[in-house]
Amino acid sequence: MPNGRFQGKVSIVTGSGQGIGREIALAMGREGASVVVADWNEIKAREVASEIGAAGGAALPVKVDISDAGQVEAMVRQTLAAFGRIDVLVNNAGIGHVKPFLSITLEEWNRVLTINLTGQFLCAQAVARVMLQQGGGRIVNVASISGERGGTGRAAYGAAKAGVILLTKVMAVELAAKGIGVNAISPGPTETEQVRQCHDDATRAAYHSVLPIKRYAAPSEIANTALFLASQESSFVNGHILNVDGGFGAAGLIFEPR
Ligand SMILES: NC(=O)c1ccc[n+]([C@@H]2O[C@H](COP(=O)([O-])OP(=O)(O)OC[C@H]3O[C@@H](n4cnc5c(N)ncnc54)[C@H](O)[C@@H]3O)[C@@H](O)[C@H]2O)c1
Repeated sequence: MPNGRFQGKVSIVTGSGQGIGREIALAMGREGASVVVADWNEIKAREVASEIGAAGGAALPVKVDISDAGQVEAMVRQTLAAFGRIDVLVNNAGIGHVKPFLSITLEEWNRVLTINLTGQFLCAQAVARVMLQQGGGRIVNVASISGERGGTGRAAYGAAKAGVILLTKVMAVELAAKGIGVNAISPGPTETEQVRQCHDDATRAAYHSVLPIKRYAAPSEIANTALFLASQESSFVNGHILNVDGGFGAAGLIFEPR
């Protein structure tokens, strides 16, 4: 394995059986990390771990539901048993949800909040306790532009991601002096399975009208940014929410002036 930014590092990437997490896990493997491919879809986790292994890297597939505290503790124990330390956590696993505010059931609300917010809290806390013993580490939470703006149908999903953004800032403030850097990325719309299920033609057209870049992101474009925040290249970046959104957050009126 050639020298990379993650040589000798151990990374847990949650939700890395497919989509953005898969790209992050593969890229970290290419750059020398020992990667824990953590997902509740065990078959997909195994496939990604095999891909990393076939490319000459080290990877451990772990089946975990990030919203179950016991399973998260077990994931940490398996990581330590296999690789002895944890340098990086990418808190990426999450589910999509689009439904009008007036129609959301309490059950749906609780499911989205429990996976997309509580799940990140559980993973971050369990891993940060290990990083504290080691003297440091880096955590990257995956938020969303839906946690920053009031997009239609994003009441539960957006509230969870807004929670991730604030959680990121508090963790960064509390953990910085202990050597643990915490940041988040806020992706814009990215071509993954989650988007294929949640974005109909009307959603895509609406996004294209407000995206200066006029296209969705490739998962690799999100992964590149996550790797920067997970690496020592960003050692003085802390508590930052980095939008990877094709200019969505910067945009005002978009039209062709005459
Ligand atoms: N795709 C986008 O447009 C977009 C935009 C902004 C933010 N995000 C966020 O990026 C992250 C990845 O999204 P994606 O588009 O790659 O989704 P995806 O559905 O393609 O992949 C998500 C992965 O997470 C796993 N997962 C889901 N819930 C889990 C749980 N409770 N425990 C363990 N694993 C679980 C799934 O099995 C899957 O492999 C999510 O947090 C999502 O909210 C995505």
